[in-house]
Amino acid sequence: MKNLVVLTGAGMSAESGIQTFRDADGLWEGYDVMEVASPQGWYKNRELVLDFYNQRRKQLFAVKPNKAHLLLAQLQGKFHIDIITQNVDDLHERSGSKNVLHLHGELLKVRSTTNENLIYSWTGDLKTGDKCETGSQLRPHIVWFGEAVPMLDKAIELTKKADILVVIGTSMQVYPAASLIHYIKDNIPIYFIDPKPSINQNNFSNITIYAEKASDGVEKLVQNLNNELMC
Ligand code: OAD
Repeated sequence: MKNLVVLTGAGMSAESGIQTFRDADGLWEGYDVMEVASPQGWYKNRELVLDFYNQRRKQLFAVKPNKAHLLLAQLQGKFHIDIITQNVDDLHERSGSKNVLHLHGELLKVRSTTNENLIYSWTGDLKTGDKCETGSQLRPHIVWFGEAVPMLDKAIELTKKADILVVIGTSMQVYPAASLIHYIKDNIPIYFIDPKPSINQNNFSNITIYAEKASDGVEKLVQNLNNELMC
C-alpha cells in the first residue's frame, strides 16, 4: 500500500463548527494570540488562558466529525495513512482514523507545568489548583507560540516517507508545521484542499489544488485516488 500523508489545519474542522484562527471570523480576531497561546500570556493571566481552553474543550463535546474527516478515515485499507494535524481537537480520531499525530497538542490532555512528560487525559474544566502527581499546577497540553514542537521529528520522518501528500485547510503561516511540505520526496503528487489556497503551481510542479471546502475537496480527492487505484 502507498503511504498517504495528510497534513491538516483548522479548515479541516471548520464544517464541524469549530472556528479557524485567521479567517475573517477566526479566533484570533477575538483574542490576542499572545495573551492566550504563549508562555508569557500564561504567566501574565493564567485565568484567561484556562478559560480560553476550557471553552474550546467544552465546545468539543458539542461538535462532530464532518464528511471530510469521515471520508479520510474510509481511505484506510486502500492506503497506509498518517495524519499530521495542527488541530487540537479529536475529530480525526472520532471519525475512525488510526494514525493521528498532533503537532500542536491536544485539548483533551493536560500536563504538568514542571515536567512535560506528566501528561493526563482531561475532559472537564482545568482550574487553578489542579495539580500533577508531584504537586505542580497543570496547564493545557498545547504547544504555545515560542515553545518547541516535540512531535516535529516524528512528523518529518512520516513526511519523508510519503508517496502522496495531502494538505487540507491550513493557511501555512505557522512554522515549523508549514515547513513539513519541504521534506517530501521529489515529485510525489501533492493535493492541496482549501477554499483560499496559500500555495500554487508555481511553488510545486506536481500539485493538484482543490480550492474548495474540505468536504467537497476530499470527495474529489477520494474519486481521484480511487481512479488511480483502478489503473
Ligand atoms: P488558520 O486559521 O491559519 O487557517 C485556516 C485555513 O482553513 C485557511 O487557509 C482557510 O482558507 C481554510 N478554511 C476555512 N474554511 C475551510 C473549510 N470549510 N474547508 C477547508 N479549509 C477551510 O489555521 P491553521 O493553518 O490551522 O496553533 O493555523 C495553524 C496554527 O495557528 C494552529 O494550529 C494554531 C494557530 O495559532 C496553535 O494554537 C498552537
